Amino acid sequence: MEKGRILLAVTGFHPQRWRELLSAEREVVLEPDGASDPSITYAVVWKQRPNLLSSLPNLRAIFSIGAGVDHILADPTVPDVPIVKVVADNLTQYMTEYVVWRVLDHHRQGMLYRTQQKRKIWHEPPQRPAGDISVGIMGLGTLGRAAASVLLSLGFAVNGWSRSERPMKGVSTYAGEAGLIPFLNATDILVVLLPLTPHTQGIVNYGVLKELRKRNGLGGSVLINAGRGRLQKDADIARALEDGTLKEASLDVFEVEPLPKTSPLWSHPKVFVTPHAAATSDPVHLAPIMLRQMAAFERGEKLKNLVDRDAGY
Ligand code: NDP
Ligand code: OXD
Repeated sequence: MEKGRILLAVTGFHPQRWRELLSAEREVVLEPDGASDPSITYAVVWKQRPNLLSSLPNLRAIFSIGAGVDHILADPTVPDVPIVKVVADNLTQYMTEYVVWRVLDHHRQGMLYRTQQKRKIWHEPPQRPAGDISVGIMGLGTLGRAAASVLLSLGFAVNGWSRSERPMKGVSTYAGEAGLIPFLNATDILVVLLPLTPHTQGIVNYGVLKELRKRNGLGGSVLINAGRGRLQKDADIARALEDGTLKEASLDVFEVEPLPKTSPLWSHPKVFVTPHAAATSDPVHLAPIMLRQMAAFERGEKLKNLVDRDAGY
Protein backbone atom coordinates (compact mmCIF):
# COMPACT_ATOMS: atom_id res chain seq x y z
CA MET A 1 0.00 0.00 0.00
CA GLU A 2 1.29 3.50 -0.83
CA LYS A 3 2.26 5.97 1.87
CA GLY A 4 -0.98 7.90 2.45
CA ARG A 5 -1.43 11.66 2.87
CA ILE A 6 -3.17 13.07 5.93
CA LEU A 7 -5.93 15.64 6.16
CA LEU A 8 -5.79 17.39 9.54
CA ALA A 9 -9.20 18.83 10.40
CA VAL A 10 -9.70 20.25 13.87
CA THR A 11 -11.87 22.92 15.42
CA GLY A 12 -11.50 24.45 18.87
CA PHE A 13 -7.72 24.55 19.11
CA HIS A 14 -4.58 25.36 17.11
CA PRO A 15 -3.50 22.39 15.00
CA GLN A 16 0.06 23.66 14.49
CA ARG A 17 1.85 21.23 16.79
CA TRP A 18 -0.11 18.26 15.41
CA ARG A 19 0.79 19.36 11.90
CA GLU A 20 4.52 19.61 12.69
CA LEU A 21 4.65 16.21 14.35
CA LEU A 22 2.59 14.35 11.75
CA SER A 23 4.63 16.02 8.98
CA ALA A 24 7.74 14.28 10.31
CA GLU A 25 6.69 11.21 8.33
CA ARG A 26 3.91 12.17 5.97
CA GLU A 27 2.46 14.97 3.90
CA VAL A 28 -0.21 16.79 5.88
CA VAL A 29 -2.92 18.97 4.38
CA LEU A 30 -4.57 21.37 6.79
CA GLU A 31 -8.29 22.00 6.53
CA PRO A 32 -9.87 24.14 4.98
CA ASP A 33 -7.61 22.82 2.17
CA GLY A 34 -8.05 19.19 1.22
CA ALA A 35 -11.82 18.84 0.76
CA SER A 36 -12.57 16.32 -2.05
CA ASP A 37 -8.84 15.70 -2.51
CA PRO A 38 -8.32 12.18 -3.98
CA SER A 39 -4.75 12.03 -2.65
CA ILE A 40 -5.92 12.05 1.01
CA THR A 41 -6.08 8.61 2.60
CA TYR A 42 -6.20 9.42 6.34
CA ALA A 43 -8.07 12.06 8.31
CA VAL A 44 -6.92 13.14 11.78
CA VAL A 45 -9.84 14.99 13.29
CA TRP A 46 -11.41 16.78 16.23
CA LYS A 47 -14.96 18.06 15.59
CA GLN A 48 -14.49 18.11 11.84
CA ARG A 49 -16.80 20.17 9.66
CA PRO A 50 -19.94 18.23 8.53
CA ASN A 51 -19.72 16.59 5.07
CA LEU A 52 -15.94 17.02 4.95
CA LEU A 53 -14.99 13.36 5.39
CA SER A 54 -17.60 12.14 2.91
CA SER A 55 -16.03 14.41 0.29
CA LEU A 56 -12.75 12.43 0.36
CA PRO A 57 -13.03 9.72 -2.34
CA ASN A 58 -10.01 7.65 -1.22
CA LEU A 59 -10.25 7.93 2.57
CA ARG A 60 -9.06 4.70 4.24
CA ALA A 61 -9.20 5.51 7.95
CA ILE A 62 -10.15 8.26 10.39
CA PHE A 63 -8.09 8.95 13.51
CA SER A 64 -9.76 10.73 16.43
CA ILE A 65 -7.58 13.16 18.35
CA GLY A 66 -9.44 12.09 21.51
CA ALA A 67 -10.58 8.92 23.24
CA GLY A 68 -14.17 10.00 22.60
CA VAL A 69 -15.53 9.82 19.05
CA ASP A 70 -18.94 11.43 19.46
CA HIS A 71 -17.44 14.52 17.80
CA ILE A 72 -16.86 12.45 14.65
CA LEU A 73 -20.09 10.43 14.61
CA ALA A 74 -22.19 13.57 15.14
CA ASP A 75 -21.94 13.94 11.34
CA PRO A 76 -24.20 11.23 9.85
CA THR A 77 -22.38 11.46 6.51
CA VAL A 78 -19.09 10.12 7.91
CA PRO A 79 -18.05 7.37 5.46
CA ASP A 80 -17.91 3.73 6.49
CA VAL A 81 -14.13 3.45 6.97
CA PRO A 82 -12.39 2.37 10.19
CA ILE A 83 -12.33 4.98 12.98
CA VAL A 84 -9.44 4.76 15.44
CA LYS A 85 -9.81 6.21 18.94
CA VAL A 86 -7.04 7.28 21.28
CA VAL A 87 -5.82 4.66 23.71
CA ALA A 88 -2.53 5.86 25.17
CA ASP A 89 -0.78 5.47 28.48
CA ASN A 90 -0.22 9.15 28.95
CA LEU A 91 -3.89 10.07 28.37
CA THR A 92 -4.94 7.28 30.71
CA GLN A 93 -2.51 8.55 33.34
CA TYR A 94 -3.91 12.10 33.06
CA MET A 95 -7.44 10.82 33.57
CA THR A 96 -6.43 8.65 36.51
CA GLU A 97 -4.78 11.67 38.12
CA TYR A 98 -7.91 13.77 37.60
CA VAL A 99 -10.26 11.13 39.03
CA VAL A 100 -8.05 10.36 42.04
CA TRP A 101 -7.49 14.08 42.70
CA ARG A 102 -11.21 14.83 42.68
CA VAL A 103 -12.18 11.73 44.72
CA LEU A 104 -9.57 12.54 47.36
CA ASP A 105 -10.54 16.20 47.48
CA HIS A 106 -14.19 15.35 48.12
CA HIS A 107 -13.31 12.53 50.51
CA ARG A 108 -10.90 14.74 52.51
CA GLN A 109 -13.40 17.66 52.61
CA GLY A 110 -11.41 20.02 50.38
CA MET A 111 -14.42 22.24 49.72
CA LEU A 112 -15.17 22.61 53.42
CA TYR A 113 -11.55 23.41 54.31
CA ARG A 114 -11.25 26.01 51.53
CA THR A 115 -14.36 27.73 52.89
CA GLN A 116 -13.06 27.49 56.44
CA GLN A 117 -9.70 28.95 55.44
CA LYS A 118 -11.40 31.92 53.75
CA ARG A 119 -13.22 32.58 57.03
CA LYS A 120 -10.23 31.71 59.26
CA ILE A 121 -12.15 28.89 60.95
CA TRP A 122 -10.09 26.30 62.89
CA HIS A 123 -12.32 23.24 62.97
CA GLU A 124 -11.67 19.56 62.32
CA PRO A 125 -14.70 17.62 61.04
CA PRO A 126 -14.84 13.82 61.59
CA GLN A 127 -12.55 11.76 59.35
CA ARG A 128 -13.65 8.54 57.66
CA PRO A 129 -11.43 5.80 56.25
CA ALA A 130 -11.45 5.42 52.47
CA GLY A 131 -12.85 1.91 52.94
CA ASP A 132 -16.14 3.43 54.17
CA ILE A 133 -16.64 5.16 50.83
CA SER A 134 -17.84 3.47 47.64
CA VAL A 135 -16.67 5.07 44.43
CA GLY A 136 -18.85 3.98 41.51
CA ILE A 137 -17.35 4.30 38.06
CA MET A 138 -19.84 4.59 35.22
CA GLY A 139 -17.96 3.32 32.20
CA LEU A 140 -15.46 0.62 33.12
CA GLY A 141 -13.43 0.92 29.91
CA THR A 142 -9.78 1.89 29.40
CA LEU A 143 -10.01 5.01 31.56
CA GLY A 144 -12.47 3.67 34.13
CA ARG A 145 -10.43 0.54 34.84
CA ALA A 146 -7.17 2.46 35.26
CA ALA A 147 -8.79 4.88 37.73
CA ALA A 148 -10.47 1.96 39.54
CA SER A 149 -7.19 0.19 40.17
CA VAL A 150 -5.55 3.26 41.77
CA LEU A 151 -8.65 3.95 43.88
CA LEU A 152 -8.57 0.32 45.05
CA SER A 153 -4.92 0.69 46.02
CA LEU A 154 -5.90 3.72 48.14
CA GLY A 155 -8.39 1.57 49.99
CA PHE A 156 -11.70 2.80 48.53
CA ALA A 157 -14.49 0.35 47.84
CA VAL A 158 -14.98 0.48 44.06
CA ASN A 159 -18.03 -0.34 41.92
CA GLY A 160 -18.11 -0.34 38.14
CA TRP A 161 -20.90 -0.17 35.58
CA SER A 162 -20.55 -1.06 31.92
CA ARG A 163 -22.67 -2.13 28.94
CA SER A 164 -21.44 -5.72 29.01
CA GLU A 165 -20.11 -7.75 31.95
CA ARG A 166 -16.58 -6.53 32.76
CA PRO A 167 -15.24 -8.45 35.74
CA MET A 168 -12.36 -6.78 37.56
CA LYS A 169 -10.59 -8.13 40.64
CA GLY A 170 -11.60 -6.22 43.77
CA VAL A 171 -14.35 -4.25 41.99
CA SER A 172 -18.08 -4.94 42.36
CA THR A 173 -19.25 -4.88 38.78
CA TYR A 174 -22.70 -4.25 37.34
CA ALA A 175 -23.83 -4.29 33.73
CA GLY A 176 -26.55 -2.99 31.46
CA GLU A 177 -29.89 -1.43 32.31
CA ALA A 178 -30.65 -4.08 34.93
CA GLY A 179 -27.43 -3.28 36.77
CA LEU A 180 -27.82 0.49 36.85
CA ILE A 181 -30.02 1.00 39.91
CA PRO A 182 -28.18 -1.57 42.09
CA PHE A 183 -24.90 0.08 41.03
CA LEU A 184 -26.17 3.55 42.00
CA ASN A 185 -27.68 2.31 45.26
CA ALA A 186 -24.23 1.03 46.27
CA THR A 187 -22.34 4.20 45.26
CA ASP A 188 -21.38 7.30 47.30
CA ILE A 189 -19.11 9.07 44.82
CA LEU A 190 -20.25 8.68 41.21
CA VAL A 191 -17.47 9.03 38.62
CA VAL A 192 -18.74 9.31 35.04
CA LEU A 193 -16.36 8.06 32.36
CA LEU A 194 -18.89 6.98 29.74
CA PRO A 195 -18.77 7.78 26.05
CA LEU A 196 -21.55 9.94 24.62
CA THR A 197 -23.85 7.74 22.52
CA PRO A 198 -27.59 7.74 21.79
CA HIS A 199 -27.94 5.37 24.79
CA THR A 200 -25.96 7.43 27.29
CA GLN A 201 -27.06 10.96 26.40
CA GLY A 202 -28.70 12.63 29.41
CA ILE A 203 -28.08 9.61 31.65
CA VAL A 204 -26.78 11.74 34.53
CA ASN A 205 -30.17 13.21 35.39
CA TYR A 206 -32.03 13.97 38.60
CA GLY A 207 -33.65 10.51 38.77
CA VAL A 208 -30.28 8.81 38.54
CA LEU A 209 -28.66 11.11 41.10
CA LYS A 210 -31.57 10.40 43.48
CA GLU A 211 -30.58 6.71 43.47
CA LEU A 212 -27.09 7.32 44.88
CA ARG A 213 -26.43 5.90 48.32
CA LYS A 214 -27.18 8.18 51.22
CA ARG A 215 -25.53 6.10 53.96
CA ASN A 216 -21.96 7.29 53.90
CA GLY A 217 -19.30 9.19 55.74
CA LEU A 218 -19.20 12.07 53.30
CA GLY A 219 -22.40 13.77 54.43
CA GLY A 220 -24.01 13.25 51.02
CA SER A 221 -23.41 11.89 47.55
CA VAL A 222 -20.89 13.36 45.14
CA LEU A 223 -20.80 13.54 41.34
CA ILE A 224 -17.62 13.69 39.26
CA ASN A 225 -18.14 13.89 35.47
CA ALA A 226 -15.13 13.72 33.19
CA GLY A 227 -16.87 11.84 30.36
CA ARG A 228 -18.93 14.16 28.20
CA GLY A 229 -21.13 17.13 29.02
CA ARG A 230 -24.18 15.87 27.17
CA LEU A 231 -24.24 12.80 29.40
CA GLN A 232 -25.51 15.13 32.11
CA LYS A 233 -28.33 17.60 32.57
CA ASP A 234 -26.70 20.69 34.02
CA ALA A 235 -30.03 21.92 35.44
CA ASP A 236 -30.67 18.58 37.18
CA ILE A 237 -27.26 18.78 38.85
CA ALA A 238 -28.01 22.30 40.09
CA ARG A 239 -31.37 21.06 41.42
CA ALA A 240 -29.78 18.05 43.13
CA LEU A 241 -27.23 20.32 44.80
CA GLU A 242 -29.96 22.71 45.94
CA ASP A 243 -32.12 20.06 47.59
CA GLY A 244 -29.26 18.04 49.09
CA THR A 245 -29.56 15.05 46.75
CA LEU A 246 -25.95 15.85 45.95
CA LYS A 247 -23.49 17.24 48.43
CA GLU A 248 -20.86 18.37 45.94
CA ALA A 249 -19.79 17.96 42.31
CA SER A 250 -16.63 18.15 40.24
CA LEU A 251 -17.47 18.84 36.61
CA ASP A 252 -14.95 18.83 33.78
CA VAL A 253 -17.56 18.70 31.01
CA PHE A 254 -20.84 20.52 30.35
CA GLU A 255 -23.85 20.40 28.07
CA VAL A 256 -22.53 23.52 26.30
CA GLU A 257 -18.76 24.14 26.12
CA PRO A 258 -17.21 26.51 26.90
CA LEU A 259 -19.58 26.73 29.87
CA PRO A 260 -21.61 29.92 29.27
CA LYS A 261 -20.69 32.76 31.62
CA THR A 262 -24.36 32.90 32.66
CA SER A 263 -24.32 29.32 34.01
CA PRO A 264 -24.98 29.18 37.78
CA LEU A 265 -22.52 26.27 37.97
CA TRP A 266 -19.57 28.69 37.64
CA SER A 267 -20.20 30.27 41.00
CA HIS A 268 -21.92 27.43 42.82
CA PRO A 269 -20.12 26.96 46.16
CA LYS A 270 -20.45 23.17 45.92
CA VAL A 271 -19.16 22.79 42.36
CA PHE A 272 -15.56 22.48 41.23
CA VAL A 273 -15.24 23.44 37.54
CA THR A 274 -12.45 22.54 35.11
CA PRO A 275 -12.60 23.43 31.38
CA HIS A 276 -12.72 19.96 29.74
CA ALA A 277 -9.16 19.47 30.88
CA ALA A 278 -9.24 16.16 32.74
CA ALA A 279 -7.05 14.37 30.19
CA THR A 280 -5.51 16.38 27.43
CA SER A 281 -4.57 14.90 24.06
CA ASP A 282 -0.89 15.71 23.86
CA PRO A 283 0.34 15.54 20.23
CA VAL A 284 3.88 14.79 21.38
CA HIS A 285 2.65 11.43 22.66
CA LEU A 286 -0.26 10.79 20.32
CA ALA A 287 1.02 11.79 16.86
CA PRO A 288 3.77 9.10 16.88
CA ILE A 289 1.19 6.47 17.90
CA MET A 290 -1.00 7.48 14.93
CA LEU A 291 1.97 7.44 12.54
CA ARG A 292 2.95 3.96 13.73
CA GLN A 293 -0.60 2.72 13.18
CA MET A 294 -0.67 4.16 9.64
CA ALA A 295 2.64 2.50 8.79
CA ALA A 296 1.50 -0.85 10.22
CA PHE A 297 -1.80 -0.60 8.31
CA GLU A 298 0.12 -0.04 5.07
CA ARG A 299 2.17 -3.16 5.82
CA GLY A 300 -1.10 -5.08 5.96
CA GLU A 301 -1.58 -5.17 9.72
CA LYS A 302 -4.94 -4.53 11.39
CA LEU A 303 -5.69 -1.14 12.90
CA LYS A 304 -6.04 -1.18 16.71
CA ASN A 305 -8.51 0.59 19.00
CA LEU A 306 -11.27 0.68 16.44
CA VAL A 307 -14.66 2.21 17.11
CA ASP A 308 -17.71 -0.03 17.00
CA ARG A 309 -20.00 2.13 14.87
CA ASP A 310 -23.17 0.34 16.00
CA ALA A 311 -22.32 0.83 19.68
CA GLY A 312 -21.25 4.44 19.00
CA TYR A 313 -17.89 4.29 20.81
P1 NDP B 1 -13.89 2.93 26.46
O1 NDP B 1 -14.58 2.74 25.15
O2 NDP B 1 -12.65 2.17 26.74
O3 NDP B 1 -14.91 2.58 27.65
C1 NDP B 1 -16.23 3.00 27.65
C2 NDP B 1 -16.95 2.29 28.78
O4 NDP B 1 -18.30 2.79 28.83
C3 NDP B 1 -17.03 0.78 28.60
O5 NDP B 1 -16.90 0.13 29.83
C4 NDP B 1 -18.44 0.58 28.05
O6 NDP B 1 -19.00 -0.69 28.30
C5 NDP B 1 -19.19 1.66 28.81
N1 NDP B 1 -20.45 1.98 28.15
C6 NDP B 1 -20.64 2.47 26.91
N2 NDP B 1 -21.95 2.60 26.66
C7 NDP B 1 -22.60 2.17 27.76
C8 NDP B 1 -23.97 2.03 28.11
N3 NDP B 1 -24.95 2.34 27.25
N4 NDP B 1 -24.26 1.55 29.33
C9 NDP B 1 -23.28 1.18 30.20
N5 NDP B 1 -21.96 1.30 29.93
C10 NDP B 1 -21.63 1.78 28.72
O7 NDP B 1 -13.66 4.50 26.62
P2 NDP B 1 -12.52 5.25 27.44
O8 NDP B 1 -12.47 4.69 28.79
O9 NDP B 1 -11.28 5.31 26.65
O10 NDP B 1 -13.12 6.75 27.45
C11 NDP B 1 -14.38 7.02 28.02
C12 NDP B 1 -14.82 8.43 27.66
O11 NDP B 1 -14.09 9.38 28.41
C13 NDP B 1 -14.59 8.86 26.22
O12 NDP B 1 -15.56 8.33 25.36
C14 NDP B 1 -14.67 10.37 26.32
O13 NDP B 1 -15.99 10.79 26.12
C15 NDP B 1 -14.23 10.64 27.75
N6 NDP B 1 -12.96 11.37 27.81
C16 NDP B 1 -12.94 12.61 28.40
C17 NDP B 1 -11.76 13.31 28.53
C18 NDP B 1 -11.71 14.62 29.23
O14 NDP B 1 -10.66 15.28 29.19
N7 NDP B 1 -12.75 15.03 29.91
C19 NDP B 1 -10.51 12.75 28.01
C20 NDP B 1 -10.63 11.44 27.44
C21 NDP B 1 -11.82 10.79 27.35
P3 NDP B 1 -18.32 -2.03 27.72
O15 NDP B 1 -17.08 -2.22 28.56
O16 NDP B 1 -19.32 -3.07 27.97
O17 NDP B 1 -18.01 -1.77 26.29
C1 OXD C 1 -11.16 12.95 24.63
C2 OXD C 1 -11.28 14.27 25.26
O1 OXD C 1 -12.17 12.38 24.21
O2 OXD C 1 -10.24 14.93 25.47
O3 OXD C 1 -10.03 12.43 24.56
O4 OXD C 1 -12.38 14.70 25.56
